[in-house]
Amino acid sequence: LALYQKNGQLKGRHVVISAGGTVEAIDPVRYISNRSSGKMGYALARAAVEQGADVTLISATSQLPDPVGVRTIHIQSAQELSEQMFTALPHADVIIMAAAVSDYRMAQTAQNKIKKQDSGELNLTLVENPDILAQLGSAKTGQYLVGFAAETQNLMTYAQNKLKKKNADMLIANDVSKDQVGFGYDTNQVTILTKDKEPEMLPLQSKITLAREIMKKISIAINGQVE
Ligand code: CTP
Ligand code: CA
Repeated sequence: LALYQKNGQLKGRHVVISAGGTVEAIDPVRYISNRSSGKMGYALARAAVEQGADVTLISATSQLPDPVGVRTIHIQSAQELSEQMFTALPHADVIIMAAAVSDYRMAQTAQNKIKKQDSGELNLTLVENPDILAQLGSAKTGQYLVGFAAETQNLMTYAQNKLKKKNADMLIANDVSKDQVGFGYDTNQVTILTKDKEPEMLPLQSKITLAREIMKKISIAINGQVE
């Protein structure tokens, strides 16, 4: 079985995917992050390669092996991710923000290890990170932009709002409060929202089969043709 589909639906296309939970340093030994494993983004990278795309993966995780045939760039913070995404933007045909970006970072990262306080409490001041997906949505010049939404309640309302507000072309919504869905699992269940079509609820399935289905929908959207 050939790994590269020389005549795949995404042949000649450059697909840029972010994956994993970004890491914000508190001090030299501690950090703020989240439960994202990166598995969904890595599965999308594999699926894009299978369909013949030229793939760049911008990864915030070191827990998964670099996918074969994919240019993988490792980053940690949301700011580093933002720099890489904007460097890739002009050369991209498709951009997928599968990374779980930390919404906040330290106002100031401590130079030295923070010592235990005598007062019995510690207050950290956090500032908001840039919304990379929304900024890409403002800056894009014809790239097909895909975002995710991780919700624990009001899935459809919140996801619709994100699709609009961030000017994405596709928003993949998952209810991460459900068992086997989203963070850390090898399976996922999502609803796909696009600007012009009715929301489509997909069944619970492995992240790789879901990734193949998502990449197929993206290729149809950008090629304007059915397989
Ligand atoms: N995202 C981003 N930059 C951020 C925060 C989120 O690019 N600073 C992207 C994520 O990669 C994802 C989408 O925006 O594709 C939605 O992320 P999510 O955390 O679900 O939404 P937020 O807009 O951060 O809102 P909230 O966390 O309050 O639900
Ligand atoms: Ca968020």
